[in-house]
Amino acid sequence: MNSFPSLLESISDLNKIQIDGLLSLSNKFKHRESESHLFTYRRPIIATSFLENSTRTKHSFAIAIQKIGAMYIDFNAETSSLKKGENLEETFLTLFNQGVNLCIFRSSISHQLNQFKNSPPIKIINGGDGINEHPTQALLDLFTLLELSLDLEGKTIAILGDNIHSRVCHSLINLLPMFGMKIILCGPTSFLPDASTLPPGVQISTNRDETILKSDFIYLLRIQKERHLVSDSNEILSDDKIYHTQYGVSLELLKKINKLVPVLHPGPANIGVEIDLALLKSSLYKGYLQVQNSIPMRMAIIQSMLVNNDKNIGNVHGEEF
Ligand code: CP
Repeated sequence: MNSFPSLLESISDLNKIQIDGLLSLSNKFKHRESESHLFTYRRPIIATSFLENSTRTKHSFAIAIQKIGAMYIDFNAETSSLKKGENLEETFLTLFNQGVNLCIFRSSISHQLNQFKNSPPIKIINGGDGINEHPTQALLDLFTLLELSLDLEGKTIAILGDNIHSRVCHSLINLLPMFGMKIILCGPTSFLPDASTLPPGVQISTNRDETILKSDFIYLLRIQKERHLVSDSNEILSDDKIYHTQYGVSLELLKKINKLVPVLHPGPANIGVEIDLALLKSSLYKGYLQVQNSIPMRMAIIQSMLVNNDKNIGNVHGEEF
């Protein structure tokens, strides 16, 4: 594999060769062809630091860290000296000087890690930053799509829901076209980005049924109310029943339009809003497969970053005297 970045903030930090390498390593981890306890003698130390709630990302990283034989520290930002005004760089440098090799960081602030692009104080993986990106979710989604269909070239995925506030959507639209996929972002106008800002191969639509009929996969997103501005509110968005009727997806709908395709969801799912219970309990729903695949993909990402041999980590100095 090409040298792996020491800061994974965005899908754009990776090239196709590195992504192919991650897919191949994930596959080996999933099918136990690769030794998972790689660091038995000199165990790296890896911390998670989540400044926002998480069930899937934080715990799958915690499991992946332990499966590759590293030591796991849950750095509790809420009770840390960040609360006494220490800045993020000093916090990361303190962890680095305590011997922590890598930190998985989640924040509600978009682009918060961008300040470390040129000289990371510690190796860092973005576990989701505001509405910007969630690169490891998109990578495990790609791994899942490839399990469902060996060749994604020319296939269409409908990403339905709150696209504009979704960091997962922002990572997917940069990742999936690299594998030949076409994407239709669908939702009410206020959930759709300006079409002129989108990468080639990505379109927008406000018509749910027409979008689903053109698609080979459906990817549902929850309404991310915590990221909405007061100006975003309107009747469709504030009434779950109206939203479900116009933009939610039910098993009954898929049967009615005869489009029984795999349905993915990054979670957490809001039953009765973007998805109904019958669809979530059906074999079309692949959300639990995504959760299963999160472990081998995150093992692959961690291992690739740990072994990148970047000697500049932690060398964040000012003027020399
Ligand atoms: N998919 C995802 O990021 O879920 P969590 O918020 O539970 O980590």
